[in-house]
Amino acid sequence: MAQNESPSRRSFLGATGAALIATSGLGAQRPKDVKVRLAVAGGGFGARHHWHEHPHCAVTAVTDLVAGRRQALAKAYDCDQVFPSLERMLAEAADTFDAVAVFTDAPSHAKHTLMCLNAGKHVTVACPVALTLEDCQKIKEAKEKTGLRYMMHESSWYRQPCIAAREAYAKGQFGRLAFSEVEYFHPGIGARSHGLSSTRGKRTWRWGFPPMLYPTHALGLLVGVTGERIVKVSCAGQLVSKDFPAGKDNAYGNPFDNEIALGHTDRGNICRFGVLWNVAGHGERGQWLGEKMSCFMAGSGGQPRARRGVSGRWQAWNVPDYWKTDRLPESMRHNSGHGGSASFLSAEFVEALVEKREPTVDVYQSIAMTAPGIVAHDSAMKGGALMNVPSFDR
Ligand SMILES: NC(=O)c1ccc[n+]([C@@H]2O[C@H](COP(=O)([O-])OP(=O)(O)OC[C@H]3O[C@@H](n4cnc5c(N)ncnc54)[C@H](O)[C@@H]3O)[C@@H](O)[C@H]2O)c1
Repeated sequence: MAQNESPSRRSFLGATGAALIATSGLGAQRPKDVKVRLAVAGGGFGARHHWHEHPHCAVTAVTDLVAGRRQALAKAYDCDQVFPSLERMLAEAADTFDAVAVFTDAPSHAKHTLMCLNAGKHVTVACPVALTLEDCQKIKEAKEKTGLRYMMHESSWYRQPCIAAREAYAKGQFGRLAFSEVEYFHPGIGARSHGLSSTRGKRTWRWGFPPMLYPTHALGLLVGVTGERIVKVSCAGQLVSKDFPAGKDNAYGNPFDNEIALGHTDRGNICRFGVLWNVAGHGERGQWLGEKMSCFMAGSGGQPRARRGVSGRWQAWNVPDYWKTDRLPESMRHNSGHGGSASFLSAEFVEALVEKREPTVDVYQSIAMTAPGIVAHDSAMKGGALMNVPSFDR
């Protein structure tokens, strides 16, 4: 959380630069230019990241099952070690990389994460952690047993308003933050006619995908601000679009294209979180209502970014472009997409490995953004039953 997040690049290098080069298990023999050697699996979203821009990282191997995507990865990261599968890459070239960025399909995340951890590789993985509580538990156990680093690549965590809200929360500016509303809208996902749900006549993993099995863009705006855990949840599901392949026509038996949950947190607060595939809206939005201050992200309904204090006056909420500052290495100070978050995520994973510390979005935070959605979907399937969310914390 905010406490272990380096406030600036200068302090990161100033405080630890010399020591990490002398002591890093990654490269005591690589003075000055200690490099994390990263392999990337999955050439869709996985080809649009920024690890190679970090001065302490080199992409040394890439893989995808699809030839065109392998080429896209090789080109994006200027890497000529290319493999036809993650399995082959681990079997044939494991000594050429320290860590793997797993950007395969969401249903494969758990299997691929465990494969990499068990091969002795640090892992950063696209969201979500897994689709079942059992797999969340296996990943937590594998991470703890191996002592390797694990980070979920959750863009909401480093959206600029989320960074600003996290820092305001750490300073106590909200007072008690009693109620958070966090949501993710992506119209059409999972529907028959959506390009991401079927390609060249073949169904993809997104066909009929349960909204609440993709909860992290919403819950990143809770866990990434307050660090709270959802401990109980009740969820409502609905089917809006006739184009959504409900029930038996999808691999998940999922009847819903929109899901909205009410969560109770471990600090006695309330969080409404939602994932909606079929509304006329788009993107991620959080609003945080505290005793002393409330902050509102801009929304697809044209709502402005705003802030209100106890005086009752509304003010514009000025959120800096953190990506322009020395929180990032100079080579990464550009708007990297998804609310400026992508380069922060790449930098955080690389710097955690170089500094030999846990990434800010560690396995516990990652599961705290994933598990409540898994239970919420179960609740929706049971007509909104109030259900406990197990703790995966240390
Ligand atoms: N904002 C965000 O954070 C964001 C945005 C988009 C996607 N994502 C996540 O990123 C991940 C990837 O998304 P996508 O849209 O590229 O999905 P995708 O299904 O288009 O691509 C996944 C790729 O993984 C490859 N793959 C699967 N198994 C493999 C194996 N064993 N070895 C090598 N390659 C393998 C597939 O061939 C495919 O090209 C998903 O988990 C998604 O949820 C996150």
